[in-house]
Parts: sequence; C-alpha cells; structure tokens
Amino acid sequence: MVTMSFLSARHDHLVLGQTGPLPFFPRVKIPQKARAAHTYVVGITGQGKSKLLEHTLFQDITQGRGCGLLDPHSDLASDTLRYLASWHDKSYMDKPYLHDPKNLERIIYFDPSRTDYILPFNVLDTQFGTYETAQNIVEAFRRTWPQSLAEAPQFSNIALAALITLIENKQTLVDMHRLLTDDDFREELLAHVSNAEVVSFFHDRYDRWGREAPLMRESTLNKVAAFTFNPQLRLILGSKENALDFRRIMDEGKVLIVDLGRCDPETRRLLGSLIVTGLELAALSRKDIARVEDRRPFHFYLDEFQDFFSLIAHTCFLGFILRSTFYVLHSGDFQL
Ligand SMILES: Nc1ncnc2c1ncn2[C@@H]1O[C@H](COP(=O)(O)OP(=O)(O)O)[C@@H](O)[C@H]1O
Ligand SMILES: [Mg+2]
Repeated sequence: MVTMSFLSARHDHLVLGQTGPLPFFPRVKIPQKARAAHTYVVGITGQGKSKLLEHTLFQDITQGRGCGLLDPHSDLASDTLRYLASWHDKSYMDKPYLHDPKNLERIIYFDPSRTDYILPFNVLDTQFGTYETAQNIVEAFRRTWPQSLAEAPQFSNIALAALITLIENKQTLVDMHRLLTDDDFREELLAHVSNAEVVSFFHDRYDRWGREAPLMRESTLNKVAAFTFNPQLRLILGSKENALDFRRIMDEGKVLIVDLGRCDPETRRLLGSLIVTGLELAALSRKDIARVEDRRPFHFYLDEFQDFFSLIAHTCFLGFILRSTFYVLHSGDFQL
C-alpha cells in the first residue's frame, strides 16, 4: 500500500509516496537531478496516477519550482487549486499559501470555458522565428484534425503562407479566415510581407486556382472557421495581447495550470496542441542560455497524455523537462 504524504520533504528530492501509513515508514523518492528526462506514469484506470501527479505537482508548486499542468478533465487542476487554497505549513508560514500575494502572482490559471474572465492567448505574438512559429501552428492544426487534414489538398501551403502573412502584419489567428476570403484585405496585408515566396504563393497559385479553388480551399477554410466562429475561442485567440508568454513562464519559474475539462473536444485538442507546441518552441529558444545549469528547470505535467501522445514523442530537450511520470502500481507493490 502506498500512501501519499504531503509532509514537507527535502527539496533535493521529489517524494512519490510512503510505504505505509505511519511517519516512520520509508518514503519513496527520486532526486531532482533524475527528473531531467521524461517520466511516465503507467497504470490502469483508478490506480492513482492522477493523484500521484497531483502530489508531485503540489511539491513543485510549494517548493518554488517552475511547473505546468495540462489537464483534460478538470479534476486534477481543481483538486490542486483547492488543496493549495487551504494548505498552510505552520512550521514556516504564518498564513495559508495562497494568501501570500507573491505565491498568488506565480500562478497562471487558464480555463478557456470561463466567460467571467478571458485570458488572451495570442499564439502569433512570439519572439521566436516567424517561420518556426507558423510551422508549429500548422503542426498544432494537424494534431487537432489529423484525419481530415491529411486529405486536405494544399492545406500546409495555404496555412503556412497565411500564418506568415499574419505574423508579419501583427494580426491574430482569427484574422486568418478573412485573409483567405477577402481579396482586398489579403492584398493590404501582402504589401507588408517581406517573404517573396509567400507573396508569390498567393498571387501565382492561390489566386489562380479558378474553378478548382473551392476544392483546394474549402477544407482549410472549414477548419479556420472552427475557431473564428466560436465566440469563446474568438475572444481568447483574437486578442493582440498575450498572457501566455511561455518563455517568461519558464524563465521566471511560474506555475501554469491549464484546465481544458469543460471545453468541447475540438477546442480542447486545438488549445492543448497550441499550448504544447508553444512550450516546445519556448524550450527550444532556451538554447540562447549557453549553460544548461543556468536554464531554470520547468516541469510539465500532462495527464491522460494519450490524447497528446504524438506531441510528447518529439518534445523534451535542453533545460525543458516534460513530465508525466512513469509509475507502475501492482496490487500492493510499488515498483520503479
Ligand atoms: N495513494 C492513495 N491512497 C488512497 N487512495 C488513493 C491513492 N491514490 C489515489 N487514490 C484514490 O483512488 C481513486 C482513483 O485515483 P486516480 O488518481 O483518479 O486514478 P487514475 O488517474 O489512475 O485513474 C481516487 O478516488 C483517489 O482519491
Ligand atoms: Mg487519471
């Protein structure tokens, strides 16, 4: 039997649990250094995987480490916040954890289904390369609609050219539909695009498809319409401001809690993919910090990662630590 222990632990170790219910039972822990690689939690439903992630995430938050959570079901995010709200370690704190404005400020909570406050997420506002950003967003679209986009002719070309045009003009993702359907608007934006290939793609190909145009464009436009016509997504993705600066979140050791549990499945996949690709880009950009030791670790938790599995497969490098801990629980046995 493994019990969860929320007792304060030495910060150089992450406590996974305790081998029995009394304080003298040995704890199972892993050194922080060992976390510099992927970790997976594996087990059948109901074995306590999410609870374990909650427990380790809780340690990361309260011990001041930068971390993030992408929760597709809400339970983990809301349990963590609820527990944090009431948590108070009397041995070194004179008030509950969240009563300290410093701690509250570290936490960025993003629930896209909430209408009382909107967190602007301008995915095109990025200090990374225009082309890299556009390509990552195209990849996020592919992950959101893998089947229909695999069959969509010209999808990658149209989306890539449109995204580069929008980024160079400091527009937002929701302007993509207008860019592809309104010729005057497109010409206005193309006048400010430095990438000659993009301008030539629109003038020499896109505009000349003639009778074939609906076939070439429709499947891409359908997808773009999905976030343009969704009022909530429009508000989140259509703002010029950007509250989710992943690079800053990592470098400043902030806590990012994303709760996608109340979104419709398409929104969940789209925002989940955009967030994971955004983190990926931010992590890559950290190579400008020469020494690995100077890169502040960031632990990222993905619950139910099979929904995002293809995203993980090639993520994790440099100082970025993608975390979804490996953990096997047999009846009565704890095994690493
Ligand atoms: N170490 C534990 N000791 C006692 N109960 C636990 C423990 N871990 C999880 N549970 C309980 O078991 C149930 C399933 O846990 P959960 O973390 O949701 O499983 P999973 O994510 O593997 O499906 C929950 O009700 C949870 O409170
Ligand atoms: Mg679970």
